[in-house]
Amino acid sequence: MLRSLLNLTVNGYGDITVNSHDLNKFAMGLLVALLGAIGFNLLAEQVFHQEPLVANAYPIDTSMIASASVTEIVEESGPSIAELMQTADAESGASVFKKCAACHTTENGGANKIGPNLWNIVGKDVASTGDFNYSDAMLSQEGEWNYELLDRYLTRPKDAIPGNKMVFVGLKKDSDRADVIMYLRSFSNSPLELPTIAAVEETAEEAVEEIPSEAAPETM
Ligand code: HEC
Repeated sequence: MLRSLLNLTVNGYGDITVNSHDLNKFAMGLLVALLGAIGFNLLAEQVFHQEPLVANAYPIDTSMIASASVTEIVEESGPSIAELMQTADAESGASVFKKCAACHTTENGGANKIGPNLWNIVGKDVASTGDFNYSDAMLSQEGEWNYELLDRYLTRPKDAIPGNKMVFVGLKKDSDRADVIMYLRSFSNSPLELPTIAAVEETAEEAVEEIPSEAAPETM
């Protein structure tokens, strides 16, 4: 009677049974395993715990990779506007400008429509067409419409100058922006100088300088 009480029937067929002795052994085993696991964890922490690396134990000589990186980096982030302007085409820009013409005129003394007249806009101070009612966002944007700012603005107006009121999604294609800027540039008595190849290289150097850590090469 007692024996059968202590016997634990595991499945319905009564084949596999565990008696109290086995149960005790099992419980002990479990306890030992548990303590062991805890102990091992504590030990492992002592053995394997490491301070985060402050400096690279083996400084990497970056001068070895200098030659390849400049062009690679520039290509990764897409060609700069200075670079794009080298091959930009005002005539293609005229056809891109059809997207702008609903809101902008370009001729000298042209009317403001939904957007301001864009005569002489390339190189002009931002928000400086006297009789246009600019948004506060546009009025607080400093500087002039140089190639970089125009490129950024026309890529995605609402991100470039948050809060500005030009309702235009932007020109995704690099060449569309360069072409339309080239076209706008022609509406001036003294068009702003085009970026030179030297400026292209300067942008490349800036791109390298922006790379954090020691990965940037020291010499070109
Ligand atoms: C739906 C109308 C609309 C379209 C389309 C549009 N613009 Fe504009 N644009 C505006 C408005 C409005 C402003 C003034 C924004 C402000 O004050 O916040 C503006 C401002 C500008 C400015 C700044 C002018 C200054 O005096 O500082 C430039 C440059 C410009 N647009 C270029 C373009 C170009 C290029 C296109 C086509 C690719 C284009 N816009 C398409 C409405 C438009």
